[in-house]
Amino acid sequence: MALEALRYRRGSLQVLNQLLLPHTSVYEEVSTVQQGWEAIRSMKVRGAPAIAIVGCLSLAVELHNGNKRTKEELVAFILDSLKYLVTSRPTAVNMARAATELSAFVELEAGKPDSTSETIQDCVIQWAEDMLAKDISDNRRIGDHGAQHILQGSSGQNIVVLTHCNTGSLATAGYGTALGVVRSLHATGRLAHVYCTETRPYNQGARLTAYELVYEKIPSTLLADSMASLAMKEKTVSAVIVGADRVVANGDTANKVGTYQLAIAAKYHGVPFYVAAPSTSCDLSLEEGRQIVIEERPGKELTDVNGIRIAAPGIGVWNPAFDVTPADLITGGIITELGVFPPQELRVALSKSVKVN
Ligand code: MRU
Repeated sequence: MALEALRYRRGSLQVLNQLLLPHTSVYEEVSTVQQGWEAIRSMKVRGAPAIAIVGCLSLAVELHNGNKRTKEELVAFILDSLKYLVTSRPTAVNMARAATELSAFVELEAGKPDSTSETIQDCVIQWAEDMLAKDISDNRRIGDHGAQHILQGSSGQNIVVLTHCNTGSLATAGYGTALGVVRSLHATGRLAHVYCTETRPYNQGARLTAYELVYEKIPSTLLADSMASLAMKEKTVSAVIVGADRVVANGDTANKVGTYQLAIAAKYHGVPFYVAAPSTSCDLSLEEGRQIVIEERPGKELTDVNGIRIAAPGIGVWNPAFDVTPADLITGGIITELGVFPPQELRVALSKSVKVN
């Protein structure tokens, strides 16, 4: 059975508490928007696509099981809930984007003369369920586009991938983005090996990606973040593939802290550097990376391990959760469900797809 970050059927949502992985798998009920917000904020669920999906499904479940509201009360509740969910974590764009789109959709539905609170509620539930299904199909496309692109550039060699953070089933509705490309490469029989970084300070690589790779029986090795340049030099890495929390119009990309230094090291070693992300992680409203708000997290994530302080008392701590990789370091391309694009071509590619759809 595939790993699942969440389990949903109409009226019921459970999320896998990722704080307990890899030792314990516990699914916890999320029945309200408040519980959805808390699951995201506390990082029981994390990863840009999964954050948005859990946020929207928590709303769907609360609506399905909740008390009857007048049409006006219902619309106000939905719009307020979406605004609130956006405050859970600031850097990943997916929740904010979903909130903007779903709010516009609700306002449109509510403006129809024959709409009722029941029809609006059904539309919102359906919208959230469609989002869940689309994320999985988008990820499969990302996987296939990415694998094809990398194999085409490989001159027949089997592929060695280095990846960072967790971008797999646990960070999405299923299959994954950067890890989806790894899965697709593995399925072709041409994946030689994967190196996953530990991803300090929160250890998404050691706890979650390593867990997924072992679960899928993909040949893989864990590295401390500080070993990545050496691995590029000595382990014939063919491609670095990472995910994204927000890709802006010029192709600059926010992703888990440490991504930027991997991109610099990849350029130095002539290793193609890829970002794999669905179009829902792209934000054409921002022109460049320095406009992205970067979440800062508690210093304890650096100073303590499993609740035990390891850092010298009194030391100051800086703990940005993400960094921004400039577009010109994304040398392999940005892998989306629409295809693989050089960063400078992403804006046009995404704008075209919006016009077509
Ligand atoms: O802080 P996290 O664990 O939510 O950060 C996750 C990442 O940075 C991922 O690389 C990104 O969200 C892409 S997940 C498909």
